[in-house]
Amino acid sequence: MIKLLLDVDTGIDDALALFYLAHAQKKGEIEILGSTTVGGNVEVGQTTLNTLKIWEMLELDIPVAAGAKQPLMVPLNPAPYVHGDDGLGNTFLPAPKKGPSEESAVEMILRLSHEYAGELTLLTTAPLTNIAVALLHDPDLAKRICKVVIMGGSVFTGNVSAVAEANIANDPEAARIVFRSGMEMTLVGLDVTHEVYWEEQDLQALVKIANERSAFLLQIIGFISTAYENLSGWKRCVLHDPLAAGVCLFPDLVKCEKRYVDVELNGELTRGMTVVDRRGRTPLGEENMQVALEVDAERFKTQLMESLLAWAREG
Ligand code: BDR
Ligand code: CA
Repeated sequence: MIKLLLDVDTGIDDALALFYLAHAQKKGEIEILGSTTVGGNVEVGQTTLNTLKIWEMLELDIPVAAGAKQPLMVPLNPAPYVHGDDGLGNTFLPAPKKGPSEESAVEMILRLSHEYAGELTLLTTAPLTNIAVALLHDPDLAKRICKVVIMGGSVFTGNVSAVAEANIANDPEAARIVFRSGMEMTLVGLDVTHEVYWEEQDLQALVKIANERSAFLLQIIGFISTAYENLSGWKRCVLHDPLAAGVCLFPDLVKCEKRYVDVELNGELTRGMTVVDRRGRTPLGEENMQVALEVDAERFKTQLMESLLAWAREG
C-alpha cells in the first residue's frame, strides 16, 4: 500500500486533494502518514489551520506539522484573491479542535523518511521550501524517498506569469534544490492540470445533495471558479492539486516524458519558469524527472467527484 506524506499550502484545491486522499485511505488504497504545511496560497499559520480543519471534517487524525513561513530568498507572494482571505473561499470555518504537531515540517519529513526508508511517497502541492530545507539538512533524504509527485511548473504555459506556475514561482530557489536532488520525481504541471476542471454543469450531483457538507464544497468550488473567471475569462474550478494526488495513486492517469528540468532564477520575465529540455540529446544535464504531458481528464474528474459525493452524502 502507498505510504504518503503530503506537503501542502491549503488552499481550495489543496483541500479538494485532501478529500480525495481521505476517500482513498478509507478504501484502503493508501496510508496517509502525515502532512506538512508551508506558506503559499496564504500564510503558513492559516494553511496549517486549514489542513487541521479539513482532516477534522474528514474525521481523520492525521498529524499536521507547520513549516516555512517564507520562501528561501524572497518574501511570500500569497494569493488571497484566488483562495480567499482564509484560504478556503472566505468560509471562515471555526478553529480546529486539534493543534499542529510539536515537530516542525522538516523534522516530520526527515523522521518519516527514516521510519519508512525506501517506501515513502511525497506529494507536494505547494512551494517546495520545506522539502528544500530538509534536503539542505540531510541530502541523503533523496535516497530514502521512494518518489515525489510535484504539482508545479509546466512545459508550455504559466499562471502567475506567462511562463511560471505559482508553486515554483513562489520559491524558485527551493525548486532548484529539489530538482537537483536526485529523487525520483514526477512533475504534474499546468499542461495537464489545466485540462482537468469543473464547470457549473459538472456539479449537479453535488447540488442535489443539498446539505451542509455539499454547501461547503460548492462554496469553495464557486469561490475559486469566480476568481479564475476574473483572471482568465473562464468560470471553472481547475483541479491542480487533486490531479497530482490522483497521479500518486494512479500514475497511468497521465502520460509522461522523462526530461531534464531546471528552474529559471534570474529572468526579468521568466523567473520561476520550469525549463524542460525536450531535445533528443540533453546537454543541460541528465533527465531528472517524469514530466506529465497528457491526462485522462474524464477518468480523474469522475474519481474526484465520487470522493466528494461520498463525504457529502454521509453528512
Ligand atoms: C498551484 O498554486 C496554488 O495556488 C494551488 O493551490 C496549486 O497548488 C497551481 O498553480
Ligand atoms: Ca496548493
